[in-house]
Amino acid sequence: MKFYMPVKVFDERDAVIKHFGEAGSLGRKALIVTGKGSAFSNGSYDDVTAALKKEGIGFLTFSEVEENPSTETIFTAGGKYRSEGIDFVIGIGGGSPMDAAKAIALVLKHPEADLDYLYDASKDSSALPVVCVPTTCGTGSEVTGVSVLTRHDKKTKMSMVHKVFPVFAFIDGKYLSRSPHPLMVNSSVDALSHLIESVINTKADDYVKMTAYAGLKMWSGTKEVLTGEKAVGEEECSCLMRSSCMAGMSIAQSGTSIPHALSYPVTYDMGTPHGRAVGYFLPGFLSAAPEKERDELLKLSGFSGLQEFSSFIDKVFDGFRIPENELLRSYEAVKNNPVKMNSASFRVDEDILKNIVYYYSDAKSTESLF
Ligand SMILES: [Fe+2]
Repeated sequence: MKFYMPVKVFDERDAVIKHFGEAGSLGRKALIVTGKGSAFSNGSYDDVTAALKKEGIGFLTFSEVEENPSTETIFTAGGKYRSEGIDFVIGIGGGSPMDAAKAIALVLKHPEADLDYLYDASKDSSALPVVCVPTTCGTGSEVTGVSVLTRHDKKTKMSMVHKVFPVFAFIDGKYLSRSPHPLMVNSSVDALSHLIESVINTKADDYVKMTAYAGLKMWSGTKEVLTGEKAVGEEECSCLMRSSCMAGMSIAQSGTSIPHALSYPVTYDMGTPHGRAVGYFLPGFLSAAPEKERDELLKLSGFSGLQEFSSFIDKVFDGFRIPENELLRSYEAVKNNPVKMNSASFRVDEDILKNIVYYYSDAKSTESLF
């Protein structure tokens, strides 16, 4: 067994303000990588820049990271800041800016890198140091080495092969409390999926279960917030962000499985938010899993069984359905990906994959597709 988690995590209110001084050891000039909006309104950008000024660290800001960042964006930033003497990179926001920060840190370290470099495991994986300040509760990217990027040339999303773990992660629930409710729902269902997929996984071991079970228990206390039955308080926000962080620690060991693999074409083609696309396939995945494992995971998440969980997904996503032609594309993509087909802890053949994909579909309407 192996458990590798090299990120120093500070998780408390005002974590950036209290502890950013430690990041001062990373250099004298930082590049902040963020999206166009939320970091500037939820207080995270202000906290980070105030901390940088206090430490006397210069900084530049690249705020052009789009949702599901493309490899083109990575190389735009790489070209723009190559000659700026950047010492380290700070990703602020959800998974998109944090994943982009990792890839940009790699490209800044290797100015010769091209698109093939990002996907060539034989190349040097070293990157500039990365600091992450998450503001959503889904990705867990602050504690993983993963950087998922959009490949327009392949019309899907693909993780870079190089693992770039952040050096520091500063987690503060106050940033999440200012985020829109649908974003919170999408993010936390993504985190739930990470927790479940890391356990129903060929790579799951006792260490993965340690972080995943703790994360599931923490997540279970927040589901009424997601359905709108309970108001969002500071405590709930902290729990959501902490469960997302633990989920990140789990998938950093085991990776994700079938629901994530099925979600990528959907997000690419339809622009469906990542958590929503993943969550759509989660009940089907659980229905195909061994009963004992499924029931244990659902119980830890606070559900009495699969029926209640399916209804929960339906409720928080307002009965969202993926069109049949798009489901077929996801099915074909995963069916032809042996790594993903063999990633779950139970055997997945083509028939089982169909049942996962078409869990929410009317059986009659799908028969015609095969
Ligand atoms: Fe995810």
